[in-house]
Amino acid sequence: MMDMMRSQTTRKNYRALGGALATAMATALTVTVTVLTVFASPALAATESKMQMTPFKASLKDTPSMQRGAKLFVNYCLSCHSAKFMRYNRMAEDLHIPPALVEKHMLFAAEKIGDPMETTMPADAAEEWFGVAPPDLSLIARLRGPEWLYNYFLTFYLDDNSPSGWNNVVFENVAMPHAMHELQGLQRAVFKTETAADGTQREVLERFEITSPGKMSVAEYRQAAADLTNFLVYLGEPAKLVRIEYGIWVMLFMLVFAGLAYMLKKEYWRDVE
Ligand code: HEC
Repeated sequence: MMDMMRSQTTRKNYRALGGALATAMATALTVTVTVLTVFASPALAATESKMQMTPFKASLKDTPSMQRGAKLFVNYCLSCHSAKFMRYNRMAEDLHIPPALVEKHMLFAAEKIGDPMETTMPADAAEEWFGVAPPDLSLIARLRGPEWLYNYFLTFYLDDNSPSGWNNVVFENVAMPHAMHELQGLQRAVFKTETAADGTQREVLERFEITSPGKMSVAEYRQAAADLTNFLVYLGEPAKLVRIEYGIWVMLFMLVFAGLAYMLKKEYWRDVE
């Protein structure tokens, strides 16, 4: 009688222990998954657009792509835009670019590798030239989202009516000239009028016409736009690289832990059953 009672209480205890373990594991897993999804979700940047966005997903695992993006950024963007939340040496370390290479090819004359990525263009002069100062791009990927950026880089076109001679399909009347036109070439945009079911009319992009090819093929330039976007996404959240690594280790740990807990449960129950 005593024995039976004891075994019943033990059983109850084990059951409680098992329950507590299961709850703890479930909670931990939920927290991990939530944390990972929250940080993995892209910024929202819905805009009324004259075209269907070409889908694009950024990849922070593609280090060579981000390296090429960094090079494009330094060569074609830093003359007007800064990225002052990023330092050259941090970028070199994160993207596995040899510091000597950064020092040789990426720094302006007076800069040191520990400096933030500043533009050499004085903000007031820029405002005078473009009517609006080029914004700092450190956090632009969080503001606009990768897909918007990718499409922005692809859709600059010649426009005689704009002060700079350029326009952009996803950023209408943008004050920025096409910084990478020597790579993409020159293109004109052909628009058509679309009538919706309710009778409202709107202009939509029909196609681009290349009027003068650039140094890159269409496919190469698309890759360049992707590289630059990947780099800007990294720039907006450098800690994400580290976080992805942590996330994988946490998941692995949870799996191993679940296995151990299961073996432990079996071990306890062997005596009871
Ligand atoms: C000649 C100067 C110049 C260069 C070079 C330049 N930009 Fe710009 N950029 C501007 C200006 C000016 C604006 C502001 C446009 C506006 O608000 O109408 C701008 C705006 C932008 C925006 C939109 C910001 C927003 O408000 O959402 C992005 C993104 C951007 N630039 C990225 C780049 C990238 C990437 C490069 C390099 C490939 C680059 N720019 C090169 C002048 C420049």
